[in-house]
Amino acid sequence: MTFFKQYIAQTVSGALPAFFAGAEVPADEIVSLIEYPPDTSMGDLALPCFKLSRTLRRSPVQIALALEQILSGSEAVEAKALNGYLNFRIKDDALVNTVLSAVEEKGAKYGSSGSGEGKTVVLDYSSPNVAKPFHIGHLGTTVIGHSLKKLHEFEGYKCIGINYLGDWGTQFGKLIVAYRKWGCKEAVESGGIDELVSLYVKFHAEAESDPSLNDQARAEFHKLEEHDEDNTKLWKWFVEISLREYEKTYKQLGITFDSYAGESFYSDKMPAQVEKLRELGLLKIDDGASIVDLEKYGMPPCLILKKDGSTLYPTRDIAAAYYRHETYRFDKAIYVTAAQQSLHFAQWFKVVELMGYDWYDKLVHVPYGTVSINGEKIATRTGNVILLRDLLSLAIAKVRGITKEKNPGMPDEQLDEIAETVGVGAVVFYYLSNNRIKDINFVLEDALSYEGNTGPYVQYTYARTCSLIDKGVAVEKPEKFLISTEEEHRLCVLLSMFPERVGAAIESYEPSFITRYIIDLCTAYNRFYHECPILSVSDPAVSGTRVWLTKATSTVLENAFSLICLKTIKQI
Ligand code: ARG
Repeated sequence: MTFFKQYIAQTVSGALPAFFAGAEVPADEIVSLIEYPPDTSMGDLALPCFKLSRTLRRSPVQIALALEQILSGSEAVEAKALNGYLNFRIKDDALVNTVLSAVEEKGAKYGSSGSGEGKTVVLDYSSPNVAKPFHIGHLGTTVIGHSLKKLHEFEGYKCIGINYLGDWGTQFGKLIVAYRKWGCKEAVESGGIDELVSLYVKFHAEAESDPSLNDQARAEFHKLEEHDEDNTKLWKWFVEISLREYEKTYKQLGITFDSYAGESFYSDKMPAQVEKLRELGLLKIDDGASIVDLEKYGMPPCLILKKDGSTLYPTRDIAAAYYRHETYRFDKAIYVTAAQQSLHFAQWFKVVELMGYDWYDKLVHVPYGTVSINGEKIATRTGNVILLRDLLSLAIAKVRGITKEKNPGMPDEQLDEIAETVGVGAVVFYYLSNNRIKDINFVLEDALSYEGNTGPYVQYTYARTCSLIDKGVAVEKPEKFLISTEEEHRLCVLLSMFPERVGAAIESYEPSFITRYIIDLCTAYNRFYHECPILSVSDPAVSGTRVWLTKATSTVLENAFSLICLKTIKQI
């Protein structure tokens, strides 16, 4: 709708002085006032005239009436004044021809404003803790993070996706102790991450009755920090095994990273930052530990060094941010984590500011809510967790079952492809359907339903557009597009809204704007599909327009799907 908003704003802005004794309102200001009416029966767009009242020195009702007159001869819009609002309906001809040409011309780029051209964004997401389970709590950071990357890339930003692996810390001391006591090479080789996790869980259980194990673990980690050869070898092996497992899940989700520089990578980069903090007089000793006092900013102190001089999570984040700024000169650095970490980010962002780094305001924390499954919260420490891998496998298996039942003769290869695309897509789509900050209760049955606002439903709609395009290959493109029904009109309005939704999703770091847009577009397309015969109409302009509307829907769905890690499939 940007095109029509601009058109309205420019026409109105240009004509205002003549109507209102020389008073001027810039077109940009008018564009920002134009909104979508709550009820589509009121029109496609509306301009509330209340804010113009002061500049134009008339009542909103008088202004709306005057503007109605200004736009009365327009070929593009029909304007109606009502109670201080000016409601618009875009004329069919202008609407369909503008929208379909724009989609055809821009194709895979339709929806992008290119506003990120020449800018760099670094995104820190997924970042599981090695040798701990990759559970469904990580689904959020993984798919929100990747979606934000795709959105920024689409908009023209250069993006660097970083998997800041939790590959350093006392948990490795624990694992080394556990492995030497109870583990064996073959079991870890064959059992992979599951075996590591059970060693980790066993360590915690045993440490309950034998607390000396914790001291041993600390000692082993300390040796690792001092580059002890045997421990380093074990550590590298644990990381490798975990990565191999994560990569399987990333592959299923269609996710790749540009860097796997995890926490360990920053071990030697922290002293310089600690030194700088000290020089600046920002460090305070509190009960032996070094902290930055943040009381003035209404926050608890940020811990930099423990009593024994070892570094902490914030210390590493500061060093990593500094390194990333030096390396990538980012315009934005985005961190996607659970909302529980909001304070941590607010604290170290503040410390970076106090350190005088002028890029402090380019750091963005994007928090998200918790996930429970069928009402149950996940608990990491007891090992009582649902692994992301298992959730995806379960979804895939269920879709395979449903698809086989519907299509008994379908070859296995095709069944597998459908099962994986639809199963994984269902999980991702369901997760991304909510505002990210809301807590989610995951109900797999709902996610997999073919009815309702689900992944399978939207993938099915996409497949429907593909099969219609195949059937309509012989239909010619009309010289001029022609629509006459309300369903076609609504579909065009939705197609034209895509670029704005992309912009809003980036501005709010909110992939759910895209998910909801996809649902709206699918609903509009399906209504159109049911109400408007496409290939059986005799008027070639009408039939051609309907095929081209289908092609445009298909293109926009492809573009939108790719922004939320949802794969397309032509048959379902
Ligand atoms: N590994 C951490 C966790 O699983 C998340 C890391 C987030 N990124 C960061 N730069 N702190 O909780």
